[in-house]
Amino acid sequence: MIVGVPKEIKPDEYRVAMLPVGAEELTHAGHTVLFESGAGQGSGIPDALYQAAGATIVPEAGEIWAEADLVVKVKEPLPAEWPMMRPDQVVFTYFHFAAEEALTHAVIESGITAIAYETLRDHRGGLPLLTPMSEVAGRMSIQEGAKFLERPQEGRGILLSGVPGVAPAEVAILGGGVVGSNAAKVAAGLGANVRILDINLDRLRYLDDIMPPNVTTLYSDRHTILESIERADLVIGAVLITGARAPRLVRSEDLSRMKNGSVIVDVAIDQGGCVASARPTTHRQPTYLLNGVVHYCVTNMPGAVGRTSTYALCNVTLPYVLQLATHGWRNVAQSDPGVAEGVNISHGRVTNRAVASTYGLRFEPRYKEQDQ
Ligand SMILES: NC(=O)c1ccc[n+]([C@@H]2O[C@H](COP(=O)([O-])OP(=O)(O)OC[C@H]3O[C@@H](n4cnc5c(N)ncnc54)[C@H](O)[C@@H]3O)[C@@H](O)[C@H]2O)c1
Repeated sequence: MIVGVPKEIKPDEYRVAMLPVGAEELTHAGHTVLFESGAGQGSGIPDALYQAAGATIVPEAGEIWAEADLVVKVKEPLPAEWPMMRPDQVVFTYFHFAAEEALTHAVIESGITAIAYETLRDHRGGLPLLTPMSEVAGRMSIQEGAKFLERPQEGRGILLSGVPGVAPAEVAILGGGVVGSNAAKVAAGLGANVRILDINLDRLRYLDDIMPPNVTTLYSDRHTILESIERADLVIGAVLITGARAPRLVRSEDLSRMKNGSVIVDVAIDQGGCVASARPTTHRQPTYLLNGVVHYCVTNMPGAVGRTSTYALCNVTLPYVLQLATHGWRNVAQSDPGVAEGVNISHGRVTNRAVASTYGLRFEPRYKEQDQ
């Protein structure tokens, strides 16, 4: 099979979807790897290392999209890439369809099979390809939040840790999954007072057991959310309903209850955001001020720490890339229901229930038989 790795074209996206070791394992298994020149540059990995590992370096992405049976990427295809997607091609990447209707229709019309990192499950029901990036984004959310709480960045002028004699910051984290727990760990480590809100009581019990004493777990309901954002200096949005649009837990009118200069980092923006006033931003222009509240809503946070993120991502994607290339996506999806959950759209049919219901499209789970 021909496996292609194009350079990411999203602004300030420095990750790449494959390490040289991936090229080596794929070529060793008899596959051809086409790698776009410079694709590893943002993560500090030169073409020469891919070439030495057996990849063929090609000058332009067009060649990869034209020839590869399996395209492996990091971020969703952008409009410039849509016309290059071909029927029967498999694209393995983050898609986040629920956040972008135009992309959903472009993929339906293209006829590709879209296997989304963010909905593929492992045998324990976890999201193994989302987890490492959520770990990065969760930790980073506090780093970014701390920066934008500084007065020159339009924040309240608060140091997260406080100092002797001055109270630390209040941090409210909506969602105690991977992003939320990693954010809590870093914020608590800095000495902030942290609240984690979740609707999963088992998860709250677990967090209560492992988190330090400056972390309080709370059941997430409307009253607790309002009370928590009112007292917070920093709010982290970290909820997820897999494949679906994020629930809007903070309404636009709630901003008026928040402190002037407080900061919201809505990590869930890639699924549409859990704060109604959140709209996607980029690393170039990461924040905007609305009703006195700084909003940070970068959809590809891990892209800024490309080197860490590339290694963390490729560690988990490579075994799946090898399987897809060697056995074909239908066989892998048939033998592994977790991979089948990653197949969001195939040959124009929406095979993920949450994506279909987000846009009122027909859900057609029986892709296996139909596509034979
Ligand atoms: N912006 C970025 O660059 C970036 C990077 C990585 C992940 N993410 C996104 O961050 C979000 C969280 O990812 P995750 O891996 O932590 O997911 P996760 O599934 O591990 O955790 C989500 C948590 O939200 C909780 N939840 C659901 N509804 C809730 C509600 N009403 N109130 C409170 N909690 C609720 C769930 O119980 C769960 O514990 C996802 O949208 C993910 O795509 C964004």
